[in-house]
Amino acid sequence: MERLTVELPGRMYEIHIGSGLLARCGPLIRAVTAAERLAVVTDSNIAPLYLAQVEESLRAAGFSACSVVFPAGEQSKNIHTLNLLYERFAEEGLTRGDGVVALGGGVTGDLAGFAAATMFRGIDLIQLPTTLLAQVDSSVGGKTAIDLPQGKNLVGAFYQPKLVLADTDALKTLNRRVLCDGMAEVIKYGMIADTALFALLEGTGGPAGLEGRIEQIIAACCAIKCAVVTEDERDTGRRAILNFGHTLGHAYELAYHYETYTHGEGVAAGMVKMLELEQKKGRDTAALGERLRALLRAFSLPEAIPCAMEAYRAAIGLDKKAKGGRISVIEVERLGEAEIVPMDKEALFALLEE
Ligand SMILES: NC(=O)c1ccc[n+]([C@@H]2O[C@H](COP(=O)([O-])OP(=O)(O)OC[C@H]3O[C@@H](n4cnc5c(N)ncnc54)[C@H](O)[C@@H]3O)[C@@H](O)[C@H]2O)c1
Ligand SMILES: [Zn+2]
Repeated sequence: MERLTVELPGRMYEIHIGSGLLARCGPLIRAVTAAERLAVVTDSNIAPLYLAQVEESLRAAGFSACSVVFPAGEQSKNIHTLNLLYERFAEEGLTRGDGVVALGGGVTGDLAGFAAATMFRGIDLIQLPTTLLAQVDSSVGGKTAIDLPQGKNLVGAFYQPKLVLADTDALKTLNRRVLCDGMAEVIKYGMIADTALFALLEGTGGPAGLEGRIEQIIAACCAIKCAVVTEDERDTGRRAILNFGHTLGHAYELAYHYETYTHGEGVAAGMVKMLELEQKKGRDTAALGERLRALLRAFSLPEAIPCAMEAYRAAIGLDKKAKGGRISVIEVERLGEAEIVPMDKEALFALLEE
């Protein structure tokens, strides 16, 4: 079992990582909230697997629990599902002192998190992340959001949970592609901040080698995210390093209309491409690029994704880190060290075209 504390002033919370946490979530949640009633929000894939044990543990700990299940998938992360959650919370008799439990991946966490942030102007939120991506990334740090037809994550709030319980047993029911999708973010953490984590990942040789090491790996990722978030909760500075590989990664996702490549696959190819661009600027990233590509291959992640210049331009034009003609790119020249580098967009396009 691993335990970390996120030390945000006035909103300190713990992250527990380990086996069997879903089945004994009740008493752990009891310790962090005065809520009487909890609404467990989850999706249609997770409900049949894990909802019963969570509700049972909550009831045994003295909570009255109800649940809201929405259709699995990113297409549910919208205003309509959000509205359904608000209405169900009201129908179920939740009050200002009650809370929301987000049981699921990043979609569930973002959606239920935003609902908790806004229902009664904010009620207690507990995150029970069930995908690797959610355990290392989306459940930690307090970003919640829904998508609009105009783009992803355009409406949201910063809202920290009271507790995060990452049950590593849940990862056993993930399909391989979803697991590897999360591994792209794990590899990213090694690249930007942790040489020991990167070496540990190299030692796994692939998904089978995660067994016995996954708690330590998730804890290392959460520790990095916690440190960055504590320093820059509102994402106005250093938090940007978490976007290594993401500017180009988003271009790949967008170029294929979010249908062909997962987010992690886009980030994987985006990290490799970023090192190549750095090399064109005269940096010596060849050996690191070699190590990165070998690790991506071990987790069935792409080393490159074909992308037309127009697609790069379209995506970078929309990038939230872009202001006017400038953009901040994240560069890693030495393993474990990330830098935020302001650049003219045209200079970036020129490098991409070379
Ligand atoms: N808030 C943040 O800081 C942040 C950070 C990164 C990503 N995100 C968001 O996270 C979302 C992606 O998260 P995700 O990849 O977890 O997607 P997801 O929640 O859709 O989960 C992926 C799939 O796995 C299924 N699933 C989840 N847990 C399972 C389990 N234990 N066993 C079997 N199946 C399971 C889900 O039903 C779904 O079909 C995106 O919407 C993204 O914007 C948010
Ligand atoms: Zn990401």
